[in-house]
Amino acid sequence: MSDRLPHELPAAHPRATSGVKSAFDALYNWNYESEIDQLRTLYANALERQWIALRDLDWDSEIDREAFSRTFSLAGIPIQETEFWKDLPADLRWEVARRSSAFMLSNFLHGEQGALMVAAQLVNVVPHMDGKFYAATQTLDEARHVEVFAAYIRKLDEVHPIAPGLKQLLDNVLATDDWKKKAVGMQVVAEGLALYSFRDMRNQTQEPLLKKLLTYVSRDEARHTGYGVKYLSAVVPSLAPNERAELEDFAFESARLLIDSRVGNSIRQTVFKLWETAGIDMAQALGSIMKDRERIMQNLQRNGGRSMGPIRGFVIPTLNSIGLFSARIRASFDEMFEANVGRDDGRRTGAIPDLPEDLEAWVNEGYEGV
Ligand SMILES: [Fe+2]
Ligand SMILES: [Fe+2]
Repeated sequence: MSDRLPHELPAAHPRATSGVKSAFDALYNWNYESEIDQLRTLYANALERQWIALRDLDWDSEIDREAFSRTFSLAGIPIQETEFWKDLPADLRWEVARRSSAFMLSNFLHGEQGALMVAAQLVNVVPHMDGKFYAATQTLDEARHVEVFAAYIRKLDEVHPIAPGLKQLLDNVLATDDWKKKAVGMQVVAEGLALYSFRDMRNQTQEPLLKKLLTYVSRDEARHTGYGVKYLSAVVPSLAPNERAELEDFAFESARLLIDSRVGNSIRQTVFKLWETAGIDMAQALGSIMKDRERIMQNLQRNGGRSMGPIRGFVIPTLNSIGLFSARIRASFDEMFEANVGRDDGRRTGAIPDLPEDLEAWVNEGYEGV
């Protein structure tokens, strides 16, 4: 068999240059007893909650275009709530919804590939056996996430290229040799943002397959964030002040790469480009968003939506709960918010909401039976 193998491989192999250099000590641990009970429990939960993408989701169902276009959600740009949107022809609404969703989902997909590789690295670099066990289950979870996002995008459009800021974040996390930085960059910042966004998109969409897929994925992500929170909370108190500051800086830099429009083309700019290409008059669209702004915000709040966004609404509370949100790093976040959304909004970091105590229950709110 083995001599035939090369002929069966595809002609085009991935190029070596599409990688990032990483080097770290792969750590053995000769103590096989449980050291951090909470991580051992999380590992046991993960084993109980495995699911199979091909078996548990109905891939033959056609996407309900009307439901999809009416309820797609995009990085806080509420175009589908405006009168302008409701007056567009159904075909154009579908075109815009499917293309811009494919762009968002593509970045989720690329992020999942990064998470897959980082989780596999964590098996090697974390020092505790419970941490290695758990990272092994996360590796499998992330493979499944890559599988389902790729399959769903296939039903909508093609896969769009990765956003440069996200690529840089993944490179940084993959390249560092410090497992605590990997954990804070991936488990806390990237996974926290993903969990918040997936849950939000799940709550918005009325497209049944996407709703179910995002519910399943979010349940996994709740554990992934939980891993970061539990593991880092156990080790941060024993770190020297300079080590703690370095972790805070790494967290801030990771968040900055995802949301600071000064980094480069923001998600917002890319989405607006896509809409223009699909045939939307952008001046009219933006005018309509501004005009309906009050009403949209009120609706959002009435429906229990948090208008703070994933960083202020989730990532910062997470950093705060593990002891990585000093006055020093808070000033950096405030400066970034001010530069991006203006002084008034920037001040809102003042009140940090509590992190939901049970993340899995938070994901399941209203979806226990799915
Ligand atoms: Fe994931
Ligand atoms: Fe994850």
